[in-house]
Amino acid sequence: MTDASILTARRATLRARLAALGVDRGTVAFPGNGESPMNYRDNAYPFRQDSSFLYFFGLSRPDLAAAIELESGHSAVYGDEGDLDDIIWTGPLPSLASAAEAAGIGTVKPRAAFAPDLGKAGTAHWLPPYRADTLHELAAALGMAPDAVNSSASLPLVKAIVGMREIKDDAEVAELEKAVGITVAMHKAALAAAKPGMTEAAVAAIVTREAISGGGGLSFPVIATTRGAILHNHDHSRVLAEGGLFLLDAGAETVSGYAGDLTTTFPIGRRFDSRQREIYDIVLSAGEAGCAAAKPGRPFLEAHLAAARAIAVGLASLGIMRGDPDDAVAAGAHALFFPHGLGHQLGLDVHDMENLGERHVGYDGAGRSEQFGLSALRLGKALKPGMVHTVEPGIYFIPELIARWKSERKFETYIDYAAVDRYAGVGGVRNEVNRLVTAVGGRTLGPAFDKSAAAIEAARG
Ligand code: GLY
Ligand code: MN
Repeated sequence: MTDASILTARRATLRARLAALGVDRGTVAFPGNGESPMNYRDNAYPFRQDSSFLYFFGLSRPDLAAAIELESGHSAVYGDEGDLDDIIWTGPLPSLASAAEAAGIGTVKPRAAFAPDLGKAGTAHWLPPYRADTLHELAAALGMAPDAVNSSASLPLVKAIVGMREIKDDAEVAELEKAVGITVAMHKAALAAAKPGMTEAAVAAIVTREAISGGGGLSFPVIATTRGAILHNHDHSRVLAEGGLFLLDAGAETVSGYAGDLTTTFPIGRRFDSRQREIYDIVLSAGEAGCAAAKPGRPFLEAHLAAARAIAVGLASLGIMRGDPDDAVAAGAHALFFPHGLGHQLGLDVHDMENLGERHVGYDGAGRSEQFGLSALRLGKALKPGMVHTVEPGIYFIPELIARWKSERKFETYIDYAAVDRYAGVGGVRNEVNRLVTAVGGRTLGPAFDKSAAAIEAARG
């Protein structure tokens, strides 16, 4: 668990940031997560604490809540000590009082006191809930209709927390390095083991084993697919066939909750064919352009556009695109091949803080562009030293999208559809790295992992 001194300092900083935003009265409420049933109450998904709760209170056990009184700065945690009935099933756990003390919180109250205390607080401040249980508890405690709980969530609280969590301190960077290290091991295991004739599920199992061996688990459901053109394909039923590409998008979560998120694309056989290799190299060049443009003080939107431009230039060299690459990117023609965003922030969530609302997490209060492609960019705002984000360009030949655009003769000035058809068999290629923004630029987190086509082929034996 994070040191009490760090957690106490974070709570004090939150209070100071809220005061600077004109909020210095009332109670900030942090309902923690409970168990989440899969198919009946006692068969739950693996427990995952809310990330802001972890960040400020450090306690990862179900059915807790916490509060900070803004006038006094006093923090309390709400929860119940296990009794003998619980111990029979869970074994003895450290007492909640000692866990709270280790988090620098002196006051522990029964869990049932949270809602009445919140109801009595003169003013309450809360984050928009993303689980129904939390929504209903807050609605009952605050005497509000469930719909009103989200719309009345505290914008200053969102802004204050985004401003804190988006800058990772040294201990957090060390945890992220660890998460990316386990994630690299997951990807190297797949590179070494995936063979024609195996199922996608068998590769997913190898990757999952590495994540669990790291002590934590997966940071999101594994994408291990022979159909890389389906962006978030969680189906693992296909058999790996010689000549195709395999796309692995998978990451580990450390015991403390920090996420890694990498994507690797490799030939199912030992070598890329010439078209696969051409597309692969363009994706790598787009990643390099994106990383070079992701600098402190510059909007991440610029990095996205730099990667898009590299894709337009690269595809033009193959005759797939044509015309001026800047004009093509400005028009959005490249999005036929790169319809998603270049990246997102990474931290205690794999899409860090996405539950706090993208306007402030990704856009400093503005919003996404509505242009196809840019409309899928989760992060557009200026970068600051200490931010951690992904860079994950891809090129995809999505049959349904190509058929639609072709039938509409869309962007024919920039796209040669006959050439597109010649490359359609490549399917999908994505490459993803995790980056820390530094004072002068950025650096890739985790151990060295050479993604050059030659290194990938060497890893395939
Ligand atoms: N790795 C999955 C995603 O970034 O959406
Ligand atoms: Mn990602």
